[in-house]
Amino acid sequence: MDKNVEWKKLIEEIMSCSKCPLHRSRRNPVPGEGRVDADIMFIGEAPGVREDETGRPFVGAAGKLLTELIESIGLKRGDVYITNIVKCRPPGNRDPRDEEIDTCLPYLLRQIRLIEPKVIVALGRHAGRVLYSLAGLRWANMSVLHGRVYDVVVEGVRVKLVATYHPAAALYNPRLRDSLVGDFKNSILKAIRESRESVSRKQTTLVDFFK
Ligand code: URA
Repeated sequence: MDKNVEWKKLIEEIMSCSKCPLHRSRRNPVPGEGRVDADIMFIGEAPGVREDETGRPFVGAAGKLLTELIESIGLKRGDVYITNIVKCRPPGNRDPRDEEIDTCLPYLLRQIRLIEPKVIVALGRHAGRVLYSLAGLRWANMSVLHGRVYDVVVEGVRVKLVATYHPAAALYNPRLRDSLVGDFKNSILKAIRESRESVSRKQTTLVDFFK
């Protein structure tokens, strides 16, 4: 199937999903937004109240910080793809339950297969735990693992995986905020640069081959 057709079908399925109880309390599902051919995917936990109202990811206070962080490394929100592990808001902003994550995960996996990002940034421990498990890595905790860059394969896609603190956790904690800013300026930027260099190196090698 054509990728655009597959994408459209996927978003339609998310918009009409009733596979888990979260569909009963949601106002809008939040599939994600950004470039469908983005090199970088940011993956959070689940929509909050503002996201539920608008159907867009990361548009509340945490989203404002995420946008600033993305811009701090010379990108725009529109350059990347932003989504969540779970596409509907858990009531009262509680953590998503394991069975909700398991039910929703196939949507994220299809998004990863279609976007084929070069870098995945997992925002917060829930996203970190799920992405590490998909990559066959052992999750410990964020204070140990944040900012580490791993070359892994997720759903058949070779990516650089970085976990960092959730912007919401950093809003009222200056120490976490410093770590988050540092991860963007150092490891996330480095991962993006390296993924671009490896593409241009591959292209050079191909040009040399055909000389
Ligand atoms: N927190 C998240 O994890 N995702 C959002 O979209 C908003 C807040």
